[in-house]
Amino acid sequence: MSIISILALTRESDLSYKTYGKIFRAWISVVPAIFVLDPKDIQILNLKRNSRKSSEQSVNLMQYFMEIAENNTKFDDDSIINELCTFMLAGQDSVAAAVSFTLYNLAVHQSIQEKAYLELYAIFKNSDRPTDVKDLQDMKYLEQCIKETMRLYPSVPIISRKLSEDIVLGKHTLPAGCNVFISPYTTHRLEQYYENPQEFNPDRFSTENLEKLHPYAYLPFSAGPRNCIGYKFALIEIKMIVSTLLRRFHLSACPNKPVNLVFRITLRASGGVWLKLKPREL
Ligand code: HEM
Repeated sequence: MSIISILALTRESDLSYKTYGKIFRAWISVVPAIFVLDPKDIQILNLKRNSRKSSEQSVNLMQYFMEIAENNTKFDDDSIINELCTFMLAGQDSVAAAVSFTLYNLAVHQSIQEKAYLELYAIFKNSDRPTDVKDLQDMKYLEQCIKETMRLYPSVPIISRKLSEDIVLGKHTLPAGCNVFISPYTTHRLEQYYENPQEFNPDRFSTENLEKLHPYAYLPFSAGPRNCIGYKFALIEIKMIVSTLLRRFHLSACPNKPVNLVFRITLRASGGVWLKLKPREL
């Protein structure tokens, strides 16, 4: 039995997202634009419900949830709000962190930035045309840089599970009902899986090297049945943002502004990530 067996359990009682949901709702209650997610504002939810009935042409995520709720009494208004909070938190902050840390790593490692830029130059030449799907597929080295960034700075540094059954882990038995925390941040820095684990080296994620990597030594999107459902979309977003910036700007680090990592549900840089951007000549 291993850590992966724990991840294989579905989240019977999901400590993380329920807790995150509460914190997040408390936080967004100060943002008027998203008041609609406040549980006290169920009326607004009802208003949306009615507007959905009158205009069926465009179905958004909230409307899908409402449809589920109509056919499932257990999925109530609170569940809709919880799910929307999950999407807001899971889909936004995580991507922002991954973008920031990737830009930071490229700024600090100039030769790696140069290699990533040359790949983009080979794709776009001097054109400032928008990026299409084929371009994104061709950004192989940039993808390696993003994956290596998410190894050293996983946006979700800790994952939790409440055990629905006893789990034997080596000499120990973890009893059903206990909360277990798994840290991708730590796993990603284990020497037995990563040579010089503190070093930023995108070559670890070349096709050839990836084959040698233990499948569960890399967990930025978790693993098992409750892993991230948005990981492909996330990679597209990150590639799109980073490549757009890198095509237009040369990045360098600000010497007096080191990155100080803090854990605020997602991994963050206290005081932000500071970079210098110098326009490139197209
Ligand atoms: C760099 C970006 C992202 C990272 C690092 C990330 C990572 C994760 C992780 C670690 C989990 C927890 C899984 C677990 O508890 O085992 C998760 C869950 C989830 N993520 Fe992401 N995520 C990212 C982007 C996104 C995006 C863009 C979306 C949606 C558009 C999304 C939607 C979700 C949802 C809905 C869940 C909950 C899945 C479930 O409970 O079954 N994520 N994500």
